[in-house]
Amino acid sequence: MIKTNNDLAINDLAMAALALAAEQVEATLLKLLPVAVDLEQQVIDAMEYALMVGGKRIRPFLVMESAKLFGVGHSSALRVAAAVECVHTYSLIHDDLPCMDDDDIRRGQPSVHKKFDEATAVLAGDALLTLAFEILADEKTHFDARVRCELISFMAKALGVNGMVGGQMFDLLAENQKLDKIRITRLQRMKTGALIVFSGKAGAILGKAEEKRRQAIKGYCHDMGLAYQIADDLLDEEGRTEEIGKTAGKDAAAGKATLVSLSGPEQARLQADMLIDQALHHLEVFGTKAENLRILAKFIINRTS
Ligand code: IPE
Ligand code: IPE
Ligand code: MG
Ligand code: MG
Ligand code: MG
Repeated sequence: MIKTNNDLAINDLAMAALALAAEQVEATLLKLLPVAVDLEQQVIDAMEYALMVGGKRIRPFLVMESAKLFGVGHSSALRVAAAVECVHTYSLIHDDLPCMDDDDIRRGQPSVHKKFDEATAVLAGDALLTLAFEILADEKTHFDARVRCELISFMAKALGVNGMVGGQMFDLLAENQKLDKIRITRLQRMKTGALIVFSGKAGAILGKAEEKRRQAIKGYCHDMGLAYQIADDLLDEEGRTEEIGKTAGKDAAAGKATLVSLSGPEQARLQADMLIDQALHHLEVFGTKAENLRILAKFIINRTS
């Protein structure tokens, strides 16, 4: 399909919105970081380092764009976006530890356990996880306690044994095992998809959205989340360390079970494209208001980092 000038302008606007959301979330994160009175300062330094060293801020953008669809106030959305980035960053710090994926580079810089030490990295991850729940539980996030409880409950589920933590366990135990497509898909939906689904759903929870629209945003994130991990696995296989900001070729070296290792890059790319088409269908109910989410979906499978 030939891109018109209008398409290109819409694309630029969405990318500008992504950059703006990243800037606002970073400012919010800095304000929400705890203040130390003594030696615990080191863990705060590690949290700040991990948060501020970069990152695409895709999940916060999802929260912000979903919140816009449901008429949510900007400051509520920003706080939830910041909480989501805290838990994502915690997952990356722990994922890089020597006992997990053992990666010395993250976001183009030394991983937290390299910059500080392993114990500090474990604690910084723990502290980011707990800070996220503290942010959600605060009245400033939403005046209605039921909404705050719903956010907390869904985030806990997305991160726990049936979500990210379970997926990470599965990922480690599946090294050097031949899994079929159904199991790899389940593993990826848990380790990556669950937090992406929560990010989109958070806007619907904050805006007390009706069930049909809630399901639509969830469906979009569900398909987009799996495509996101396929794109990550393709970059691991085909990207360069300097470009992706983490060590390339690690999945194959560790014998990770991915759709790329199972079916090869061509098939994996086709599946990611198909998932993005499906994701876009879910957005139809939102009309033109979901334009940034449409562009985000296309961006995530064409990204180079
Ligand atoms: C990397 O996530 C880990 C995955 C779950 C694929 P991102 O690619 O979103 O990493 P940052 O936040 O942009 O560094
Ligand atoms: C990480 O998947 C998923 C989580 C952090 C929960 P990967 O191990 O593929 O992520 P990268 O490639 O190290 O960013
Ligand atoms: Mg991993
Ligand atoms: Mg990893
Ligand atoms: Mg990876």
